[in-house]
Amino acid sequence: MFKVHAVAPHRLPQLLREMPKAELHIHIEGSLEPELIFALAQRNGVKLPYANVEALRAAYAFTNLQSFLDIYYAGASVLLHEQDFYDMAWAYLERAKADHVVHTEMFFDPQTHTERGVPMATVINGLHRACVDAQAQLGVSAQLILCFLRHLSEEAALQTFKDALPFKDKFIGVGLDSSEVGHPPEKFKNVFALAHAHGLHLVAHAGEEGPPAYMWSALDVLHVERIDHGVQAVHDAALMARLAKDRTPLTVCPLSNQKLCVFPDLKNHNIGQLLDAGLCVTINSDDPAYFGGYMNDNFVQTFEATGLNAQQAYALASNSFEGSFATEQQKNQWLHALKQTFQKFSEQD
Ligand code: ADE
Ligand code: ZN
Repeated sequence: MFKVHAVAPHRLPQLLREMPKAELHIHIEGSLEPELIFALAQRNGVKLPYANVEALRAAYAFTNLQSFLDIYYAGASVLLHEQDFYDMAWAYLERAKADHVVHTEMFFDPQTHTERGVPMATVINGLHRACVDAQAQLGVSAQLILCFLRHLSEEAALQTFKDALPFKDKFIGVGLDSSEVGHPPEKFKNVFALAHAHGLHLVAHAGEEGPPAYMWSALDVLHVERIDHGVQAVHDAALMARLAKDRTPLTVCPLSNQKLCVFPDLKNHNIGQLLDAGLCVTINSDDPAYFGGYMNDNFVQTFEATGLNAQQAYALASNSFEGSFATEQQKNQWLHALKQTFQKFSEQD
């Protein structure tokens, strides 16, 4: 066990910013900043229902998940060509690099694009080219996870999966997102079994707004390796024990939870309770362009609001490597760099 020394409170934000970390829950379409939405709209001749960047930003006052998703899908309508997908991903990857994110597993929603007539090849090739360039030019390891939209049918998900199979070497897993309540994980049992048979990793959003029952079925029907969000687990003691025993990673997104009113305020977030229960909790940005911040904003604001300490910072960063789908060699290398950062901060005290 690595010994984490106390860090003076005023130096904790800098440690949070500088420590190497992995991001395991980012919807790449949720990284589209209003400025880029308008630039792409102009480049592609797409008419937006907002007069300008300020008017679009002013609409970012969400009351729940659905109120956000309506605007999020409208924003993605400017993406038409391979270069658009590349530019979106590249802008995020540069932000990730600035936040000392050394590895990222990015969700993408192909159905949001294929339903508008954009070919699967356009989506995946653009995003994948940005991932390749991120490793070469930024030293950031980047992978893709294909998400099915759960408000659509399983037949639609199966068709999407078949359309994506020719590009199977360009994504590492499948996930499940969009409107949670009323669309339980078991609705997608067959397509997840098929993805597993193809050797892909499995993750799913569950317990964001939905009940603990959705987390049980994500685990026991879909057989996911990670749960995205999962903050509703605290309402089920048996589920908490199961998650702790298996060290099932939860990709928690504090600023997202705040903006979508999952908690009344960031200071009421239950991340401390989840960590104290021994769960493999990670911090992530979800849809950073819409929720007011990227990785370091999530870390700094959450620590300030909830009073987490340096020991918990170390746990969150090391959990992000443990919970990732990277190789053991990569994980060991990042863990070594993480320890060096903590050592540097303890020596300066
Ligand atoms: N798609 C993008 N962000 C999402 C979220 N927070 N929950 C469900 N689906 C999403
Ligand atoms: Zn999400």
